[in-house]
Parts: sequence; C-alpha cells; structure tokens
Amino acid sequence: MVNRGTDNGPFRYPLPRPAGPAGQYAPPMELSGTAAIISGGASGLGEAAARALAAAGSAVVIADLNEDRGKAVAAEISGEFVKTDVSDEDAVAAAVDAAAKGAPLRAVVNCAGIGWAERTVNRKGRRTAWRRSARCSTST
Ligand SMILES: NC(=O)c1ccc[n+]([C@@H]2O[C@H](COP(=O)([O-])OP(=O)(O)OC[C@H]3O[C@@H](n4cnc5c(N)ncnc54)[C@H](O)[C@@H]3O)[C@@H](O)[C@H]2O)c1
Repeated sequence: MVNRGTDNGPFRYPLPRPAGPAGQYAPPMELSGTAAIISGGASGLGEAAARALAAAGSAVVIADLNEDRGKAVAAEISGEFVKTDVSDEDAVAAAVDAAAKGAPLRAVVNCAGIGWAERTVNRKGRRTAWRRSARCSTST
C-alpha cells in the first residue's frame, strides 16, 4: 500500500486506489486547511471517519453525546470535541459554529445513531424501537 500521508493507526491517507485505466478516478480531495464535523464521531463508523479526515489534514470536530470517548478520540487526532445531541437543534448549531470558526467547513459526516438489529414492531403490531431510533436518525 502506498502511504504518502500521516500514519494514523490503521487509517492511512491517501487511500489506495483501485487499479483501472489512467484518469478513471478523480484525484483525492485536498482537505488541508479545511474543517469537518462528524456526528457520532466518538465511536464506530464516525470515529473511523474522524480519524481518516484528520489524517487527510482536516480540523475535525467530533459532535457526540459520549463525552469521555469523544474527548479521547479528539485528543488523539488533534481535533475538538463538542458535546452534542443531534436531536437538539441548538446543540447542533453550536457544534457547527465550533467547526466553522477556524477553517472553512467542507465536510460533514453523520454517523450518530442508535439503531441495531431488533424488532421494530412487536407481535401486537405496536412499534417498539422505531420511535427512539427514528428521533436520532431523522435529525442527522
Ligand atoms: N456498524 C454497522 O455495520 C452499521 C450498519 C448499518 C447502519 N449502521 C448505523 O450507523 C450508525 C453508526 O453506527 P456505528 O456502528 O458507528 O455505531 P456506534 O454505536 O459505534 O456509534 C454511534 C455514535 O453515535 C453517538 N450517538 C448516539 N446518539 C446520539 C445523539 N443523539 N447525538 C449525538 N451522538 C449520538 C454515540 O454516542 C456513538 O458514539 C448507527 O445508527 C447504526 O445503526 C451501522
């Protein structure tokens, strides 16, 4: 694997390009000097996105409910943590302001979520997990 960028654990940038005819793929975006906001960036898919964007040169704001984990990840990638509930419009606005204050905000990745594999409707036809999950997911 070619790695001309920052070594950031398992996340390397630029990402390896699949083989193909020259010119088939767009060149990687230049992200140095830009800002990114990642909802749900304290864990899982969001954490991976946060690490990849930081490795690519973005100033990353992690917007998440999980303060301990969010601060730890932000410290590792020289980013910023802003405690955010994505179902709260004011909290999201504050996170966006924090992300945009130092550099142009060019990337937003929405990974905050609480869905998992389970019944969404019970045997009586009543919704179970659906409302809780939808409240979070529809706000991201
Ligand atoms: N991992 C998968 O394979 C997969 C597949 C399909 C869909 N998804 C969905 O993608 C989303 C992310 O998945 P993941 O595996 O990274 O989950 P994860 O649990 O590892 O991370 C989710 C993050 O979202 C945060 N979060 C939850 N509610 C929040 C809220 N209201 N405001 C702000 N942050 C909040 C959590 O604190 C956590 O850090 C989930 O909704 C999940 O259901 C995941």
